[in-house]
Amino acid sequence: MDFSAPFLTNYWPHLLAAFIGYFTIKFLARSLFGIEITRRFSHEYDPARQLDLERDEDENQGVSGGPQSFEDMTEHIPYRLKKYTEKETFRRAVEFYRMMDERRTVRHFSDDAVPLGVVQTLIKTAGTSPSGAHTQPWTYVVVQDFNLKCQIRKIVEEEEEINYRKRMSATWVKDLEKLRTTWERNVLDVAPYLIMVFKQAYGVGPNGERINHYYSEISISISVGILLAAIQNAGLVTVTSTPLNAGPALRTLLARPVNEKLLLLLPIGYPAHNATVPDLQRRDIKDNHGSDVM
Ligand SMILES: Cc1cc2nc3c(=O)[nH]c(=O)nc-3n(C[C@H](O)[C@H](O)[C@H](O)COP(=O)(O)O)c2cc1C
Repeated sequence: MDFSAPFLTNYWPHLLAAFIGYFTIKFLARSLFGIEITRRFSHEYDPARQLDLERDEDENQGVSGGPQSFEDMTEHIPYRLKKYTEKETFRRAVEFYRMMDERRTVRHFSDDAVPLGVVQTLIKTAGTSPSGAHTQPWTYVVVQDFNLKCQIRKIVEEEEEINYRKRMSATWVKDLEKLRTTWERNVLDVAPYLIMVFKQAYGVGPNGERINHYYSEISISISVGILLAAIQNAGLVTVTSTPLNAGPALRTLLARPVNEKLLLLLPIGYPAHNATVPDLQRRDIKDNHGSDVM
């Protein structure tokens, strides 16, 4: 197109109309609908905005702090991992699968002792988990004291009874029938330890400053997945449980700080000698669309 003088002379009324039109629409969009028209096109990737969109709704409320600077950039060091032969890789994958396939949620515990060092090592293993921006937003609290375990049981059972009788739908109660669970939680004072998993909504720095945590619940779920694998590997059992509505009372009982919210309660120990589990079948890999190789 020729933008020389004749073009401008001929088409200036059109250009002026387009110019006025653009700014009128921009003004109306902002004042009437709160829409900001900027030169940033929607396909442009803005990491800060993306993070905002993906952030847990209840995370980072009232948290201050801007983007991290690179001034404190961590040194990067070489990473080497032993490379197995293809045969050995396959053997290890199958062996690990077989071990994990034996994992079951066990609701009948023995009170046989487990060394505290074992539990601490399992939690250390859980701490190897990846986490959003390496914020490690979890707190693992281990309860061993019998009286405390009894108090935890009382709080959980009181809430569970209300859940079963009133709060939850008839469908929820029916869906759980196959597991034969009730509001009773006798494992809670039989198991040698209870691991209480708290989410840190935000971290607290050395000078009391708040530190943003990102993707906390996803990070904690991954960490607990690693914990479950470690528990299985050690020959111990657990019940993955989410103590519905009991979180605030348990947080108070355990004197946890305000930035922590209880997510999971995992009793840990050996199965009772007469323990049973529901005969559940796992989905075959062929039925699992997520496992399709494309
Ligand atoms: C997030 C989550 C919450 C769970 N909550 C409970 C619970 O409150 N009580 C319980 O007995 N089992 C609970 N379970 C265990 C499931 O019922 C169990 O994993 C499922 O029935 C499959 O059995 P399996 O673990 O033996 O393969 C929970 C599991 C998950 C992952």
